[in-house]
Amino acid sequence: MKRAGLMRSLGVCYYPEHWDEAQWAEDAARMAALGLTWVRIGEFAWSRMEPEPSRMDWGWLDRAIDTLGRAGLKVVLGTPTATPPRWMIDRHPDMLAVDKEGRTRGFGSRRHYCFSHQGYRAECARIVGLMAERYGRNPHVAAWQTDNEYACHDTVLSYSPAAKAGFQDWLAQKYQSPDALNRAWGTVFWSMEYRDFAEVGLPNLTVTEPAPAHVMDFRRYSSDQVAAFNRLQVEIIRKHSPAPISHNYMGAITDFDHFDVGTDLEIAAWDSYPLGFLSDRIPADAEHKRRFVRQGDPDFQAFHHDLYRAVGRGRWWIMEQQPGPVNWAPYNPDPLPGMARLWAWEAFAHGAEAVCYFRWRQAPFAQEQMHAGLLRPDSAPAQAFDEAGQVAKELAAMPDVGTARADVALVFDYASAWAWETQPQGRSFSYFWLVFHVYKGLRRLGLNVDILPPDTSDLSGYRLVLAPGLFTLSEPLKSALAGFKGTAVLGPRTNSKTPDFAIPVPLPPALPGLDARVIRVESLPPDVPVPLAMGGALINWREKLEGGATVVEASEDGWPAVVSAGKTHYLAGWPDDQALGRILQRACATEGIETDPLPEGLRRRDTGTHRFLFNYNAVPVEWGGVTIPPAGVHWTAT
Ligand code: GAL
Repeated sequence: MKRAGLMRSLGVCYYPEHWDEAQWAEDAARMAALGLTWVRIGEFAWSRMEPEPSRMDWGWLDRAIDTLGRAGLKVVLGTPTATPPRWMIDRHPDMLAVDKEGRTRGFGSRRHYCFSHQGYRAECARIVGLMAERYGRNPHVAAWQTDNEYACHDTVLSYSPAAKAGFQDWLAQKYQSPDALNRAWGTVFWSMEYRDFAEVGLPNLTVTEPAPAHVMDFRRYSSDQVAAFNRLQVEIIRKHSPAPISHNYMGAITDFDHFDVGTDLEIAAWDSYPLGFLSDRIPADAEHKRRFVRQGDPDFQAFHHDLYRAVGRGRWWIMEQQPGPVNWAPYNPDPLPGMARLWAWEAFAHGAEAVCYFRWRQAPFAQEQMHAGLLRPDSAPAQAFDEAGQVAKELAAMPDVGTARADVALVFDYASAWAWETQPQGRSFSYFWLVFHVYKGLRRLGLNVDILPPDTSDLSGYRLVLAPGLFTLSEPLKSALAGFKGTAVLGPRTNSKTPDFAIPVPLPPALPGLDARVIRVESLPPDVPVPLAMGGALINWREKLEGGATVVEASEDGWPAVVSAGKTHYLAGWPDDQALGRILQRACATEGIETDPLPEGLRRRDTGTHRFLFNYNAVPVEWGGVTIPPAGVHWTAT
């Protein structure tokens, strides 16, 4: 399936309030001359919009938008609610978030608010209303961004009095009676029974771990608050503006359900910092980190492109693209020349409508003074400036990149991430990294992958569907799988709990037609693999199964490792690279999906109009008769 004719464009994040007004026009002219289309502004500027409570100063923002617009740029206007000004804390001293240790988080950086605080929500509604009324019909404001990076700096879970009151109300609505809550949470265990919703506390500062169902409900409640906070802004903006609304999500962050927030927005955007992520977030070995230190992990960006394409129901952007060294990771290397171009092209090949670099000019002051921009602090071009210009020219020559649907789908579920953080049962079990590991295995075979939400009801068009680690199997997905004609690969841990966080009976995975029951699980330290008879091993997690299902693979110690019934396969553990490659190749062969194992660090993407190759290596790679230079992008029309 091909969606043709979509314009792809570039942009940049800009902070007019950081610079002398005399500089704005020249900045705008240079942005336009570079070939940029979009400029995102406003998202941290509350103290300049409203220096004193209710004393508004819109003049500078009017002029900034006007200056940018006159230069031919389109503005993405951000709501400033991630940075409530200092006076706000005097008005609402209890609006600050409280961390798990019970400490109030302080003023002096950003994101210092609790999502549950109704007084702060009303302040947000007020400022967003004023902005939307003033700029909703402004011809230069062509898109909106709500807040900035929900969840950044660990800000979704707040253990404040406001959160406690909100949680109690949420529980009362969900369960209707304390008895129903007691049954669902299993509070008879350790005499934790409640007589009233007002007795229920937040799941922190308990002597040892709280009941997993208690934690899980708090995670659901907290995610709902993010969605409600966002929805409030969206509803106000929509009343005044026809422009699409976005939010900028992050990498490897699962603290709220992005699919939920995404249904209220037209565009899912995300902020891509490949070198920061490799240094800070990705649990790879030292060799991998060394090899890709200036390029980033070859799959991490693509995974999020595919994830956010799903969250945005097809419409997605990069709102912030790393342009040079960042300031916030343990190590902050300089990207290999060419990477600022490669990252942008890879995003376009995965369907991005726009890629905006963060930021225009490096700020010589405050927290991010060591963070590169397209310009140096002295306004001379930095390395990524020319690369952005090159992408702009290339885009102009080839505006239609196409978007092709994949044969392979991978289910991603935020609630499963919460569940397995609540009950990992082994230090090296992580839902996110399990799914990412499977994604990597697919990409190494040269496959396009679509990511699907956990309540997907339509699998038609796919030939292979994978759903590792799902805490529960939703009813829509269960019936979609029942009617699915292709190969489905589930497990480990799939469907291993009830929504109330109990072990179901009959025992999991309880997949229709598959006679297999998980009778025991074990988690293992990373250096204790369970070897498989065909080579490779199960790592981190292993399940022992009983039942009459066909044994496709077994471990050397004689337990089933992969079982099947027809085209439904279940993995009784976390396969290592070698075993995963074999399992995926077998599934692809069954479905007639062509695989093409790629050299390390080389990745491929078919877009319906083009085949793209991306070389994440610091050395040239030869493939399919072409030599792709380090950080090189190669495409051919198909
Ligand atoms: C993002 C954030 C930006 C800036 C950037 C630095 O997480 O949205 O405001 O801080 O990181 O890399």
